[in-house]
Amino acid sequence: MSGDQQPPKTSAEDMPSTEETPATPHVGVEEETTSTPHVGADPTPTKPVRRAKTTGLAKGEPVAGVAKVDPIMIIDNVSRHFGGLTAVDVEHLEIPRGAITALIGPNGAGKTTLFNLLCGFDKPNSGTWSYDGTQLAGIPSFKVARMGQVRTFQLTKSLSLLSVLENMKLGATRQKGEKLWASVLPMLWRSQEREIEQKALGLLDRFKLGEKASDFAASLSGGQRKLLEMARALMSDPQLVMLDEPMAGVNPALTQSLLDHIVDLKELGMTVLFVEHDMHMVRHIADWVVVMAEGRVVAEGPPETVMQDPAVIDAYLGRHQDVDLGVVTGRVAGKIGAEERELLEEIEEETEHAVTEEHA
Ligand SMILES: Nc1ncnc2c1ncn2[C@@H]1O[C@H](COP(=O)(O)OP(=O)(O)O)[C@@H](O)[C@H]1O
Ligand SMILES: [Mg+2]
Repeated sequence: MSGDQQPPKTSAEDMPSTEETPATPHVGVEEETTSTPHVGADPTPTKPVRRAKTTGLAKGEPVAGVAKVDPIMIIDNVSRHFGGLTAVDVEHLEIPRGAITALIGPNGAGKTTLFNLLCGFDKPNSGTWSYDGTQLAGIPSFKVARMGQVRTFQLTKSLSLLSVLENMKLGATRQKGEKLWASVLPMLWRSQEREIEQKALGLLDRFKLGEKASDFAASLSGGQRKLLEMARALMSDPQLVMLDEPMAGVNPALTQSLLDHIVDLKELGMTVLFVEHDMHMVRHIADWVVVMAEGRVVAEGPPETVMQDPAVIDAYLGRHQDVDLGVVTGRVAGKIGAEERELLEEIEEETEHAVTEEHA
C-alpha cells in the first residue's frame, strides 16, 4: 500500500446497529437496505438496516486492470485455450480484499474458466497469479482450499445420496483424522468429529437448513442446495469465497436470503468474488464489478460507474435498467409497476427453466 492511498472504507462505519437516519451518503455510493447478518442461530427476523458498500478500493481511475489498494489476488497474463478457442486471456486483474466483487459478462465470456484456473481446478496455458502473496500456479485445488480460498459451482455439487450434515462435514479441511498417526488414536478424531459436527449444525441453522440436517441432499430444492453449498464452503473458515452464479435457479423467495448471506460474508471479514449475470443482483450487493467479454477483462469499477458505461449497458445489461431489484425481492418498500412486474415474470420464467433443467 503506498503512502498517498486511503485504505478502503465502508460508507457507514456504525452499521449495522444504526437504526435511525444514517449519515449523509458518500457521493456515488449506493445505499442498500437489507437485514442484519444472520450470525449464530438466531431465528428472530431482523429489522432492515443499511448495509454499506465498500469504497476506495482502486488506486486510480476505474479502468480495466487498475491496481487495488489492498489486493487479495493478483492475476497476470493468464490464458487458457481450448483447441483454437481462447476462453481466457486476462492481462492484469487485481481482486480487492474485504469487498464483494462481481464478475459479469455474457455467456461464454470465460468467467467459469477463470474461476477454475484461479482455484486450481484447471491449468492455464500461460500466466501467473498470486493469492494473499503466494504464487498459486501449479498448486492443486485442495491445497488452495487449505490456504483459505473456497469456491462453489455454477451447477451445485452437493452429493445427493449423502445427508445434508454429511455434505457439510466434507467441507471441513485439515481433519486430524486424515493423518495416519491420528487415525489410530480414535479419541483424537472423535473429539474433532464432534467439533466439526457442532460447527456444521451451527452453520446449517444460520442458513435455515438445520431441520434438514439428516435428510438426503437430494431432497433439497435447487435454492436450498445453493444455500447448502455456501454453508459447506464456510466449513473451512475461508478468507476468499468464490461463488459461481449463486442465484441461478434459485426461487425468488430465496433470492433475498441468498443476497443477505453474501453480504454477511463480507461483514464477517471475508472477501467475495462472484459470477452473476443478473445485473440487479450485481448492482444490489457488489462493491466492485469486473466485466469480461471473449476471455478478456473489458471494464471494471464500482457498479454505479461500470453500469453507466454505454458499451457495457448495451452488451451485457439488457433491459430494466431502472428497476430496483430490492422492490422486486420485497426487501425495499416500493411500488411494483409494469417494469417490476415484467422483471419478476422473467425471474420466475428463468427459475422454472432452471428447475426443469435440473430435474431433466
Ligand atoms: N472444457 C472445455 N472444453 C472446451 N471448451 C470449453 C471448455 N470449458 C469452456 N469452454 C469454452 O470456453 C468459453 C468460455 O466458457 P466459460 O468459462 O464457461 O464461460 P462463462 O462462464 O463466462 O459463460 C466458451 O466458449 C466455452 O464453450
Ligand atoms: Mg459460467
